Amino acid sequence: MELRLLLTFIVCLAIASASAQTPARVLIYTRTTGFRHDSIPTAVEALQAKASSVNMIFDHTEDPAKFSDETLAGYDVLLFLSTTGEVLDANGKTAFQKYLNFGGNFVAIHSASDTLRNDMFYELELGALFDYHPPLQNATVDVIDDTHPSTSMLPSEWRVMDEMYNFQSDPRDIGATVVLAANESSYIDNGNRTFNQGQPHPLAWFQTHGAGVEGGKTAGRSFYTSLGHLNETWQDELFLSHVLGGIMWTLQSNTTRATNTSALVGNQASQTTSQIIISSSQTLTSPMTAETTSR
Ligand SMILES: *[C@@H]1O[C@H](CO)[C@@H](O)[C@H](O)[C@H]1NC(C)=O
Ligand SMILES: *[C@@H]1O[C@H](CO)[C@@H](O)[C@H](O)[C@H]1NC(C)=O
Ligand SMILES: *[C@@H]1O[C@H](CO)[C@@H](O)[C@H](O)[C@H]1NC(C)=O
Ligand SMILES: *[C@@H]1O[C@H](CO)[C@@H](O)[C@H](O)[C@H]1NC(C)=O
Ligand SMILES: *[C@@H]1O[C@H](CO)[C@@H](O)[C@H](O)[C@H]1NC(C)=O
Repeated sequence: MELRLLLTFIVCLAIASASAQTPARVLIYTRTTGFRHDSIPTAVEALQAKASSVNMIFDHTEDPAKFSDETLAGYDVLLFLSTTGEVLDANGKTAFQKYLNFGGNFVAIHSASDTLRNDMFYELELGALFDYHPPLQNATVDVIDDTHPSTSMLPSEWRVMDEMYNFQSDPRDIGATVVLAANESSYIDNGNRTFNQGQPHPLAWFQTHGAGVEGGKTAGRSFYTSLGHLNETWQDELFLSHVLGGIMWTLQSNTTRATNTSALVGNQASQTTSQIIISSSQTLTSPMTAETTSR
């Protein structure tokens, strides 16, 4: 009788997990040592307000000490949101690199490309370093890949008020796929470009295998968008769906526990539950009644 109860419990866990109820865990990092965007609290609140609808948990920190092996290993994706400057010490960078080497995923937004400028692994994982931007103004953003989850809901010519970033290299050179490009005739940029960022002018891109991983290691996914300067931007549902689509896409990598029970990083809860499925599937053959949906 006791064994029956135990088996029933295991079946319930297995059903709950098989229907992918375990939320993905996202660590939002917003530390700044340079320019600080006053839209950071708006951005964090906007993402956290969407958490349950996208089955994610957004933890938020500005504490560089969170960048330890133990803490990072529990996250399915790290999200650098409008960070600037030297936001990690040497230990934090080592832990970050190790996270990437274990297949960790990475999302970066806006001035995250103006962060850790002297660390090649960071530049490669993000895709390119920020160079300069012309003044904030209205501009047209062209969707050049409308099949990606970060762009599929956008109009092909997307009017935004934002900073049109220029970059110090072409992210396509390291294997990134550009999904958004600036329409350069839709705004004024009198700056002097001394770097070649390629054409069309990249504004958002993804890497199926993040280039920040060290040789021979398992690379997770990476997504970057340069948009996101203003409070108003973070209050815009279309922009939020662009960002959330990018995060959801990175979570579909094969390298985190969200999608791979043998992965080395990601939400611990999803691994624990998944291991129960594996062990129970060998002993249980009776049909399961799908009564329990939540854990
Ligand atoms: C943006 O929102 C924050 C609060 O989230 C506020 O402190 C700040 O003043 C706002 N910025 C502007 C330009 O309105
Ligand atoms: C951008 O366009 C909107 C509406 O189209 C307008 O209200 C706003 O003043 C414009 N902003 C700038 C900085 O030109
Ligand atoms: C780019 O912007 C210009 C000026 O607003 C407009 O005439 C043109 O149609 C746009 N092209 C694309 C591809 O969006
Ligand atoms: C993830 O694994 C699936 C199934 O093995 C495979 O079809 C897919 O190409 C893999 N994706 C990546 C990015 O490796
Ligand atoms: C799951 O993760 C492990 C460890 O990173 C990796 O070796 C394996 O290829 C992944 N499985 C799939 C189907 O991608």
